[in-house]
Amino acid sequence: MILRLAIIGFGNVGQELARMLLLKRPWLLRSKGLDIEVVAISTRSKGSLMSESGLDLDRVLMEIGTKGDLKGYPDSHTDLGPLDIISKTVADMVLELTTLDIESGQPATDHITRALGNGMDVVTANKGPIAFAYCELRALARSRGVRFRFEGTVMDGTPVFSLVEKTLPGIQVASIHGILNSTSNFVLSEMTRGKTAQDAIKEAQARGIAEADPSLDIDGWDAAAKITALANVLMDARKTPNDVDRTGVRDVTSKALAAAKANGTKIKLVASATMADGDVRLVVKPVTVGPDSPFWSVDGTSSAITIQTDLMGELTILEKDPALTQTAYAVFSDILHIVESIRSGTL
Ligand SMILES: NC(=O)c1ccc[n+]([C@@H]2O[C@H](COP(=O)([O-])OP(=O)(O)OC[C@H]3O[C@@H](n4cnc5c(N)ncnc54)[C@H](OP(=O)(O)O)[C@@H]3O)[C@@H](O)[C@H]2O)c1
Repeated sequence: MILRLAIIGFGNVGQELARMLLLKRPWLLRSKGLDIEVVAISTRSKGSLMSESGLDLDRVLMEIGTKGDLKGYPDSHTDLGPLDIISKTVADMVLELTTLDIESGQPATDHITRALGNGMDVVTANKGPIAFAYCELRALARSRGVRFRFEGTVMDGTPVFSLVEKTLPGIQVASIHGILNSTSNFVLSEMTRGKTAQDAIKEAQARGIAEADPSLDIDGWDAAAKITALANVLMDARKTPNDVDRTGVRDVTSKALAAAKANGTKIKLVASATMADGDVRLVVKPVTVGPDSPFWSVDGTSSAITIQTDLMGELTILEKDPALTQTAYAVFSDILHIVESIRSGTL
């Protein structure tokens, strides 16, 4: 089987995925009988490429890695924007990997809408569309008989959505609690070890884990988008990040962290979604946790969620110090799940 991909957004995640596709190509051919070709790549400012016969990913990565853009790639250049590329490409599947817009989920939602509407399967790592428009996108995918997956939107490649979908049929989720923002968790951990908030944020930026605008992390917006995405998918919440009762870690002082430590506790930024009176309440706020909490040992850049269910009690899943590979793997695993369902004729 040949699967043709269009990659909309070719930054950290897109490039890491391209490396993974090259690395796993022999395995994909041998074990899965799957030949994956990239037939289009769209960026905002670094050039865009389209080729029906497939792009040379080694050359693409060499160009962007050494020259910082795709302009030196031979032939295949296009001036089309992402929506026109999605409409004109021969791709079977679109990967939406553009920058997150925390205020609206756009233009990613439009890209996905165009792709699903054109009858293409879609994978995204961009939480904006899941936080702002999941219900509509799911309905569109179903009406067009195509698949839409988004594992990388929360906790990278850790199987959160797949865990519930693939292994817990019939389960009802009553609540979700999570440490979902690596930067806030890292900053709180470093401040507990004696660093100032400013130095801890600078360190998070130097390590490439903080958003370019760290207020998205520090003021709880990223955690709000993630808990909204989780609630929309796992609890049918139909909310947006604007519905989250949100307090970030900006006002958590070194003194408060030291006092918590002296009391044998820690302060963590916890995002929660709780079903009450037929509605889902979403909260992001600093919470004091003790050694009996599943979040006690979730320090640094690690993340975790606890899901309270009707038939399986409480489940906790922890991701230890994720890197870019784990995000790219989320997209890679979603692609393979879609290939499985294409082959079995299911959605
Ligand atoms: N990095 C992570 O660890 C991580 C983890 C989980 C989820 N994610 C999500 O994955 C997505 C990609 O992340 P990233 O780290 O790869 O971001 P990135 O490095 O900033 O790359 C974003 C890419 O999207 C392109 N782009 C932005 N707006 C566009 C538009 N309107 N049309 C066409 N292309 C556009 C950018 O083009 P230019 O380069 O020309 O600007 C760039 O190629 C984001 O939504 C992010 O939130 C990332």
